[in-house]
Amino acid sequence: MQKILKGATVADKIIDKIKTFSPKRCLGVIKVGADPGSSSYLKGITRTSERAKVKLAVSELPEHATENNIKIAVKKMRDSKGVDGILLMEPFPEVVNVRELIEIVGKDKDVEGIHPYNMGKLLLGEPTIIPSTPGAVLELMNFYKIDPTGLHTVILGRSKVVGKPLANLLLRKNRLGNATVTVCHSKTKNLKDITTTADILIVAMGKAEFVTDEFIQDEVIIIDVGINMKEGSLVGDVDFESVKEKALAITPVPGGVGSITTASLLLNLYKL
Ligand SMILES: NC(=O)c1ccc[n+]([C@@H]2O[C@H](COP(=O)([O-])OP(=O)(O)OC[C@H]3O[C@@H](n4cnc5c(N)ncnc54)[C@H](OP(=O)(O)O)[C@@H]3O)[C@@H](O)[C@H]2O)c1
Repeated sequence: MQKILKGATVADKIIDKIKTFSPKRCLGVIKVGADPGSSSYLKGITRTSERAKVKLAVSELPEHATENNIKIAVKKMRDSKGVDGILLMEPFPEVVNVRELIEIVGKDKDVEGIHPYNMGKLLLGEPTIIPSTPGAVLELMNFYKIDPTGLHTVILGRSKVVGKPLANLLLRKNRLGNATVTVCHSKTKNLKDITTTADILIVAMGKAEFVTDEFIQDEVIIIDVGINMKEGSLVGDVDFESVKEKALAITPVPGGVGSITTASLLLNLYKL
């Protein structure tokens, strides 16, 4: 296996596959305000959609939009025959109940795989829409032939969008499943005792360069999901320089999982 598990090659392969699909599908995007993170994510989605020949319908609402205005925009998009799946771009204003917006999107246009019905199916191990970041991790593992069967796979982070779905996906009785999974979080005691027994370490904490060589054993495969700004640069949750000698393989940040996420989201449009 190569040491640096680059995401762009994986994304290119997915985009080439999407290009061949017909008829072309359309991704709807709801965005409120001008958060720089979400604006740059939207730019990335626009670029990847053009490459994948996926149509885009963006509804941008001003920062001061009311919850009711946002709900009306989501309903309109849900009822539009021309839109196949809807992405709710966070952050939303604090007054907005995102959970209610997901219910409005409904399970059939839930391109993010976050509707309770689709999450429930994921938990049951049934075929369903896989949230884009866990989907990107699985695509990466598939591409680099990382077989988690029986391996101690430690996930740092239990968020609804990354850690929890990923843990359940890796537990499925299928080709990219059958892992022995441990999920850690901020209340986990003796974290290093657990991470140093990992064969595969997946990190999604949102803590810049938290994982150093003291957290790992030799020959571990590290998948770094984290994206953080540090001194004007993007860094992962893993201290790349500290672990790179000891690890068998590692995803870089930027250029790792993050490069695959949008392609994995667009692929979901064809699975809905
Ligand atoms: N590559 C991509 O496409 C992509 C997509 C989504 C997110 N991300 C990045 O991935 C990272 C995680 O995102 P997220 O949305 O999952 O974050 P999140 O919702 O903030 O969850 C972070 C998780 O890390 C745990 N945690 C925090 N500090 C910890 C510590 N010291 N020890 C052990 N666990 C700790 C938290 O534990 P508690 O539950 O106890 O609080 C929580 O479960 C972020 O850097 C984000 O930017 C990347």
